[in-house]
Amino acid sequence: MSAAASGTHTIGDELTVNRLGFGAMRVAGPGVWGPPADRGTAVGVLRRAVELGINLIDTADSYGPHVSEELIAEALHPYPDGLLVATKGGLERTGPGEWPRNGRPEHLRSACEGSLGRLRVNQIDLYQLHAPDPDVPYADSVGTLKELQDEGKIRHVGVSNVTVEQLAQARSIVDVVTVQNRFNLTDRTSADVLAVCEQDGLGFFPWFPLAAGYLAQTGGPVDEIAARHDATPGQVALAWLLQRSAVMLPIPGTGSVAHLEENVAAAELELGDEELEQLEAAGDAAT
Ligand SMILES: NC(=O)c1ccc[n+]([C@@H]2O[C@H](COP(=O)([O-])OP(=O)(O)OC[C@H]3O[C@@H](n4cnc5c(N)ncnc54)[C@H](OP(=O)(O)O)[C@@H]3O)[C@@H](O)[C@H]2O)c1
Repeated sequence: MSAAASGTHTIGDELTVNRLGFGAMRVAGPGVWGPPADRGTAVGVLRRAVELGINLIDTADSYGPHVSEELIAEALHPYPDGLLVATKGGLERTGPGEWPRNGRPEHLRSACEGSLGRLRVNQIDLYQLHAPDPDVPYADSVGTLKELQDEGKIRHVGVSNVTVEQLAQARSIVDVVTVQNRFNLTDRTSADVLAVCEQDGLGFFPWFPLAAGYLAQTGGPVDEIAARHDATPGQVALAWLLQRSAVMLPIPGTGSVAHLEENVAAAELELGDEELEQLEAAGDAAT
């Protein structure tokens, strides 16, 4: 079993990764707040992810806050060649489940500095603006990432939670190589953003990739197709994402080695064209 079965995508014309990655939000404590119940388990999940061929890990300063980045460094630094750790800045944490946006230039600068220190690197390979802040001109936030790139602190820039218009605005300021938006079988509202990414070869991280669990509970088509392939509904949801687009880079998150292994095995699952259509129809019906 290996994430390599998902195929590869090259980020920014130079960083080639296996398309099935890992979202490191869930290695923090409940509510993505504080340390995990068992630090050893969290470190073990991160190490097992890399053993299983995952070389794309997504995190953010706000996960914990700081806990996810610290665990990644504890588990994996010095990083093996070819491992891309992508982080994000632009949100604050004021309590469990609270994520106020802060896209002010001074905040983004200090967030980036903090991530460099916690990840123990001199340059972040992929730094993503977590979300537009309605109280700050988007151009000011994106412009700060451009400055950080010019200063060598960031190698590549990504954006997250954007509309087609915001993506175009960001790309008028800096070379954007990835987008991270919510996207799954039952929520394809970002299909227009994905289409831009496909057309221009930008990587697309669909967050919340496993929300199809909702469909699985109904005894509906996800269940049936999963049974046909001797797979779980979550694996079908991930396989659908991987087959939906060549630029799709799913980052399912978990704090459990067993779930991680189940998710990586989805890279080997091949769905037929008819099954893909059935799944999309079911996704439409559920929304
Ligand atoms: N840009 C953004 O605004 C944004 C927002 C949210 C998330 N993200 C990123 O996207 C990543 C993925 O999103 P997500 O974690 O919210 O959603 P997800 O991957 O769709 O779902 C994760 C949830 O599903 C459970 N799970 C994972 N694998 C499972 C399996 N095989 N069987 C049963 N349950 C399973 C996990 O619990 P267990 O721990 O118990 O397995 C966790 O509660 C995050 O880690 C983060 O890196 C980005």
